[in-house]
Amino acid sequence: MTEQIFGTPYLTDFAPRLEGSPAMREIKRTVESIADTDATILLRGESGVGKDLVARAIHAASQRHQGPFIKVNCAAIPHGLLESELFGHEKGAFTGAHRRRFGQFEYANNGTIYLDEIAELPLTLQPKLLHVLQDFTFARVGGHAMVSVDARVIAATNRDLESALARGDFREDLYYRLNAVEILIPPLRQRKEEIPLLAARFLELFNRQYGRDRKLSQETSQRLLEHHWPGNVRELENVMRRMVVLSTEQVFDSRVADRSNHAPPAARTPISTDGLREVARNGAREAERKALAEVLERSNWNRAEAARVLKVSYKTLLNKIAECGLKPPPRQP
Ligand SMILES: Nc1ncnc2c1ncn2[C@@H]1O[C@H](COP(=O)(O)OP(=O)(O)OP(=O)(O)O)[C@@H](O)[C@H]1O
Ligand SMILES: [Mg+2]
Repeated sequence: MTEQIFGTPYLTDFAPRLEGSPAMREIKRTVESIADTDATILLRGESGVGKDLVARAIHAASQRHQGPFIKVNCAAIPHGLLESELFGHEKGAFTGAHRRRFGQFEYANNGTIYLDEIAELPLTLQPKLLHVLQDFTFARVGGHAMVSVDARVIAATNRDLESALARGDFREDLYYRLNAVEILIPPLRQRKEEIPLLAARFLELFNRQYGRDRKLSQETSQRLLEHHWPGNVRELENVMRRMVVLSTEQVFDSRVADRSNHAPPAARTPISTDGLREVARNGAREAERKALAEVLERSNWNRAEAARVLKVSYKTLLNKIAECGLKPPPRQP
């Protein structure tokens, strides 16, 4: 049996578990103890650590588990459309609003609404969200009638909300309302004991999925442990998928990954051994990586902005960054 979790078809007995390290066991305990409280939760942690998974785990452990789980990525929706996306609109609310439309809050009734990338919520919308978190009533855009919903709110961010606060990009009252219960998911490099477990799980999963029988050498297992994993579990997942699909462990070598930031793999591949299709594919991949690196650099690694410029979803952008092994420049002190 397969189940669709975040774009990856998982075999159900591979349902990700949260118990591979003391840190995650602690998070699991917190999830179990707060699942039924309806408290608003703020999930924090770097990109790819598993915030979406934890959000789903909270929903699954709550009495709302048979209700909807609605995810809204605040960074992926243009600012001008976000209010209507969240709260809906009435007919005639703006040009093109031909009929009433429900917002995601209404769809999340009796369930959970997961507000991902909450730091990207525009200042103009923050008071409305604060209001909704207080009494769970709101008016659709262009309307006066108050709508009531019964939804649990989970928010997530991989950004430094405190500096957004200091810059005045995030309201203090909303910040305190959101982080009543805060769960910080540590980066993978701080819970290395999970690496062999996750690697084995992904290996088995992708072996089944692609009909392969790949095994990991000791040397590669060791290298997996030593890698810094800036893209966290998502990066590990991508590395394992590549190893299985390409049937070679050569694809994982941190030193090569680091070097490949400067020297594209396509340039190192002798063309004569490749078919024309492979040459074209490598060329396209390289063009993609170059565009990605350039736009990220120009936007100072503002991923939301880069996703907009490149016209891809935020999630796709993050996957591409991990796939290409791109890393943000070290922060200036
Ligand atoms: N404990 C785990 N077991 C199995 N897979 C995991 C685990 N944690 C994360 N993953 C996988 O890693 C990928 C990234 O996880 P997820 O989308 O939850 O990260 P995130 O913290 O929400 O990242 P972002 O900030 O980029 O949205 C997903 O494909 C997810 O299934
Ligand atoms: Mg996420």
